[in-house]
Amino acid sequence: MDMTFFRNLPKAELHLHIEGTLEPELMFALAERNGIKLPYEDTEAIRRAYQFSNLQSFLDIYYAGAGVLQTSRDFYDLTWAYLERCKEDNVVHTEIFFDPQTHTDRGIAFETVLEGIDGALADARKKLGITSHLILSFLRHLPEESAFETLEAALPHKDRFIGVGLDSSEAGFPPEMFERVFEKARKAGLIPVAHAGEEGPPAYIHQALDLLKVARIDHGVRASEDPALMARLIKERMPLTVCPFSNVKLKVFERLADHNILSMLDAGACVTVNSDDPAYFGGYMNANFEGLARELNMTEAQARRLAANSFEASFLPEVEKRAWM
Ligand code: HPA
Ligand code: ZN
Repeated sequence: MDMTFFRNLPKAELHLHIEGTLEPELMFALAERNGIKLPYEDTEAIRRAYQFSNLQSFLDIYYAGAGVLQTSRDFYDLTWAYLERCKEDNVVHTEIFFDPQTHTDRGIAFETVLEGIDGALADARKKLGITSHLILSFLRHLPEESAFETLEAALPHKDRFIGVGLDSSEAGFPPEMFERVFEKARKAGLIPVAHAGEEGPPAYIHQALDLLKVARIDHGVRASEDPALMARLIKERMPLTVCPFSNVKLKVFERLADHNILSMLDAGACVTVNSDDPAYFGGYMNANFEGLARELNMTEAQARRLAANSFEASFLPEVEKRAWM
């Protein structure tokens, strides 16, 4: 396929952790600005450390890296750098996860984090023409009580984020543990989504749907192990925000050539392409599309459907979705 085809397609990104866009160069610059000593000699040493065996081995490094983020300006610079990459990849709309607990647990105020990220999003609307929403994601390896405290701190600012998510270590932390905090978030008008079926079993996807009442499943690739679940996802057009590079880096699939995204697409599932934590997984939106073209022989028709799905699955108003589809 002509790679310029999907580069020029307008796309929405729906599964992106802002802390996962921290490139080694910016990590060093922020460490210096904040007087922090990193346990790496240089950016090459950082890149060499990005060899993961599973989700947890990544999360350990990802949470450590986020330690350089201290001020609103740091969060602004991080977010702005990602938005410039969106511009390059013709990502015209993005729905961004942020993990407040990663920062509040280090003594950084929720407002400091939100101020910086939201400031960059507002500037990108004006200067880059990129629209966006924020999704507050709870860390599932921390207790329910911590999620409740985070929601309490966030609710006074709820006009500045559209939904709540659930991320971090999946196995052993089923969605049912967060049923009550999600109920409270939904009652406050927030849209629920959750990571499920990345490393966890199909049962976790069922729980996310039935107990958390999610509007999208993040990852969800293990749904293909459960034919009845697959049939339900297809029938309900429940979106799966799939992250091909992430799944290979974290050994969910051994090789991109083994990935199930296009077979799920062809079966009628509303799957989308996303970069998850692009600074750690080797590429942004278009690199993921390019990988699918190279390793899975993605056709132009499939690329067009993936891009259309990204708008269908977004939280944009219906008229705006239609305009891009
Ligand atoms: N899975 C779970 N938690 C995460 C991820 C992910 O892919 N990225 C950042 N936090
Ligand atoms: Zn993720």
